[in-house]
Amino acid sequence: MALRFTDQDMKEIEAICQLYPDKKAATLPALHLAQKRFGFISEEAIRVVADALELPVAHVMGVATFYTMYNKKAVGKYHVQVCTNISCALMGSREIFQHLKRKLDVDLGEITKDGLFTLQEVECLGSCGTAPTIQINEQYFENMTVEKTDALIESLKKGEIDV
Ligand code: FES
Repeated sequence: MALRFTDQDMKEIEAICQLYPDKKAATLPALHLAQKRFGFISEEAIRVVADALELPVAHVMGVATFYTMYNKKAVGKYHVQVCTNISCALMGSREIFQHLKRKLDVDLGEITKDGLFTLQEVECLGSCGTAPTIQINEQYFENMTVEKTDALIESLKKGEIDV
């Protein structure tokens, strides 16, 4: 079925456009909305955003491919992004990442069999002072350890918390 924004989405996009001097500036929030609505930013999703903003597809494509926060393929319900840049690496994030690979039984970018998790290694999340940092969906988890990560994953699995 063809992707399309809901009427409510279109109202949201109109409201976003009001905040900026031109529609190009609304590309990032419109892509965020598309990611929330469609799960990831496919070429079709890019066309939907371009249509909604009345912008060239090439412009939206350029923005979507530049920023790593837009998923170009499907991810699990929880997109686990472990920062392995220098501050986090010094504080043990690579061990956490390797542990998660084993625990979730996935490789980089894969979705777990239950569809719950996708594991990703990312560059600096801008939270070096509280390294190691993990981002799951939109939420940061800081000062992480292998043990804290285990507890977090279990809580997500059991539905005790949501992000
Ligand atoms: S190095 Fe990990 S948040 Fe900056």
